[in-house]
Amino acid sequence: MADKRRYNMVITIFLLILSVGISGAVPAPRAAAGGGSKGQWQLLLSNTGVVAMHMALTHHNTVMLFDQTQSGRSGYRLRGHSNRGRCTGSSRADLDDSSCYAHSIEYDVSRNRIRPLSLSTDTWCSSGSFLSNGTLQQTGGYGRGSRRIRYFRPCADHVCDWRQSKRSLADDRWYASNQLLPGHDRAIVVGGRRVFTYEFVPKRSPSEGSFNLPFLHRTYDRDAGGNNLYPFLHLSSDGNLFIFANRDSILFNFRQNKVVKTFPRIPGNGSRNYPSSGSSVILPLDHRNKFQRVEVMVCGGSTRGAFRAANERRYLKALSSCGRMVISGNRHKWNMEYMPGPRLLNDMLILPTGHVLIINGARSGSAGWDNARNASLEPYLYKPNATLGRRFSVLRSTRIARMYHSSAVLLPDGRVLVAGELRLQAFVPHYMGRQYHTYRPDNVTISYGTGLHGQIGVRHGGEFSVEFWLGRRPSNDVEFNAYAPPFTTHSISMNQRLLKLRYRSMVRAEDGRVNAVVEAPPSPNVAPSGYYMLTVVNGGVPSISQWVKFINA
Ligand SMILES: *[C@@H]1O[C@H](CO)[C@@H](O)[C@H](O)[C@H]1NC(C)=O
Ligand SMILES: *[C@@H]1O[C@H](CO)[C@@H](O)[C@H](O)[C@H]1NC(C)=O
Ligand SMILES: *[C@@H]1O[C@H](CO)[C@@H](O)[C@H](O)[C@H]1NC(C)=O
Ligand SMILES: *[C@@H]1O[C@H](CO)[C@@H](O)[C@H](O)[C@H]1NC(C)=O
Ligand SMILES: *[C@@H]1O[C@H](CO)[C@@H](O)[C@H](O)[C@H]1NC(C)=O
Repeated sequence: MADKRRYNMVITIFLLILSVGISGAVPAPRAAAGGGSKGQWQLLLSNTGVVAMHMALTHHNTVMLFDQTQSGRSGYRLRGHSNRGRCTGSSRADLDDSSCYAHSIEYDVSRNRIRPLSLSTDTWCSSGSFLSNGTLQQTGGYGRGSRRIRYFRPCADHVCDWRQSKRSLADDRWYASNQLLPGHDRAIVVGGRRVFTYEFVPKRSPSEGSFNLPFLHRTYDRDAGGNNLYPFLHLSSDGNLFIFANRDSILFNFRQNKVVKTFPRIPGNGSRNYPSSGSSVILPLDHRNKFQRVEVMVCGGSTRGAFRAANERRYLKALSSCGRMVISGNRHKWNMEYMPGPRLLNDMLILPTGHVLIINGARSGSAGWDNARNASLEPYLYKPNATLGRRFSVLRSTRIARMYHSSAVLLPDGRVLVAGELRLQAFVPHYMGRQYHTYRPDNVTISYGTGLHGQIGVRHGGEFSVEFWLGRRPSNDVEFNAYAPPFTTHSISMNQRLLKLRYRSMVRAEDGRVNAVVEAPPSPNVAPSGYYMLTVVNGGVPSISQWVKFINA
């Protein structure tokens, strides 16, 4: 076997030498050229019992899935006792009881198994961020849950569970958004239903409350269900916060409670935030411009009037447009382009390659229960740096509609976990195809020392080593991409960002072992402290990702 492999390698290298002559540059494989397959779908579990309204990948390679607790029973029945005796499944009392029905589960990716968790208050339409130690800080929800702060500290032994904090939020946070800020392990929570404020979690001082944000008042469409709920938040690398709501956006200095810039309104006859529910990403940040060029992208949403029309059972066609705008520097303009079809309720995920996957959603209607029609079954792939007009491609369709209350998260093995109703699926992008295996960096290991105060992790601006195995010479575009795992709900992936890191050196030994020295992001403004998924991408073919922790030491 090994001999045959070596023999094949020799032949391959020989052919490569023939094909590239003496220039030394190895051409990128087909994955980068965009041809090949459209990916595949896998059905992982036929019943998770719990609707994945919210999902987040932990650094223990498990995924938290949870919905709402006040909608009655879930599909995950437990054999517990309710306050009035054994859970029967019929009395009103057991419906809300977390010992009778699970409303949250933890999915173990490698074992393809779930286990139930217990929530004591309602997490419906909540938000969250991972703190620097990998604990999920989750905020808000509905009813008695609307001011709650909950923690989930992922563990290797599968015994951890939700813990509710004794502290609470200053305002109700139902349909609010969350972004981890640089330093102090603090998140900002913005907006919510009929709440036009933001606040910090944890607070900067014990007496601190919430702060008015007039921008949220201005962007609120009273007759259209708000159209500015779940605002899009992106941390810019200058340390300010980009906030997009409805059709407008600002750059906000949260330290001084000051609007730094007001951006032009995005074109298109409709809105982008809940219940219009388009989606947004901050495009990959790149070491080649010192991470200083920051560009955001917004795609899809509903046509003006769609929310009211849906209440009258008329389902207006969604928006097809996407806008891209550079928010750094001082010239700002939305550059518009069009998806292959209209779409709302879409999730946007940054793949390890730096491409953007647009998945889930519908072609018409609005967000809200039973308000959308015509499921968008085909994901789109978007290549940000391709020539205009050639950036989108249409991928393989699924048969399962994923509309309101669906979500998607990227997994360390490169697949995308997709859920929403009770079936759990994975989308397997083309780059995982066997035909790319000879290009795929294998057995990636990361090593680093400890920070100044003995913390384990790579400090900002520091270096770490990445070792991997490659059966052939590296292509001329090897990338080391670090990805912050988001908290995903209602078409927005909070805290998602991808950083293309610089490598100082890369040496390949004769046996195929490659040693690279890679630079951590320069500051917590560029990459807030925490766990990132590091992927080695060889000519568009990604490795399995490994976790690396960046610390502020
Ligand atoms: C991480 O920090 C949070 C908040 O300070 C704390 O509750 C949690 O226990 C910590 N988790 C770990 C794994 O140390
Ligand atoms: C915007 O869309 C609505 C609903 O489809 C339509 O009635 C209206 O005429 C459109 N406005 C413009 C300026 O295109
Ligand atoms: C939605 O589906 C209906 C019925 O199949 C069709 O008439 C309509 O054109 C579709 N709308 C969109 C936006 O695709
Ligand atoms: C994409 O293009 C932008 C602007 O032209 C550039 O700054 C960035 O480095 C490019 N990224 C890649 C991966 O080529
Ligand atoms: C990669 O790691 C696996 C398991 O640790 C090992 O069996 C395999 O030989 C390694 N492959 C290479 C090429 O080093």
